[in-house]
Amino acid sequence: MTVLLVARSVTHHGGHDAIHRLAATVGARACFLDGADPSLHAALDEADGEVVLVPAHLPPDRYLDTWIRRAVAHWRESRGRDLRVSVTTALAAQPALTDAVREALDGPRTELTGNPGPFRSPAWSQITRHRHQVLVCRGPRCTAYGANEVATALSERLGEHGLGDDDVLVTSTGCLFPCNLGPMVVVHPGDVWYESVDPGKAVRIADDHLRDGRPFAPPRKY
Ligand code: FES
Repeated sequence: MTVLLVARSVTHHGGHDAIHRLAATVGARACFLDGADPSLHAALDEADGEVVLVPAHLPPDRYLDTWIRRAVAHWRESRGRDLRVSVTTALAAQPALTDAVREALDGPRTELTGNPGPFRSPAWSQITRHRHQVLVCRGPRCTAYGANEVATALSERLGEHGLGDDDVLVTSTGCLFPCNLGPMVVVHPGDVWYESVDPGKAVRIADDHLRDGRPFAPPRKY
């Protein structure tokens, strides 16, 4: 039996590591709805036999509860595979969570003192000198369609070209709306929207558009 803790993205990588560690502690694997590796689709790709999903998001998130059902149905349809998949009650709805809050309040506390330190830094008043800003959609549908692999391929190719933040500022985003066309990558300036991006197309965006200045997206339809 494969047990998958299904979480949502958080804004810092350490948070993803914490979910992976929690999963390993209980003999499970972690996967993510959006914005982090591996996606639920990728985790199901590697599973066989019976799969149990544990929604691991905090706070409670009805969207994720709904999305997990849709994502599993889409995975079955798009992969042409079937697995016996069930889902537990979300961790956020477990009575033990209330007990954990009470235990935390009854336990030791650390008084917070000190100065704000690096809360602000002069360096964070600088806007990078980037020539292009690239928005890589890491929303739930684009993630299901392969946005994690797209983000990796793009960042590796830019690294090979020596294009850093001062050249190309890559920003992961939530849903950009045209989910059916995903994975979506948008390049500014120019407002150029690339649809159905796979790792090969991500490499071409890095080569043709971002390095050579030759956009190749089809004309936008409104
Ligand atoms: S999830 Fe990417 S456009 Fe909606």
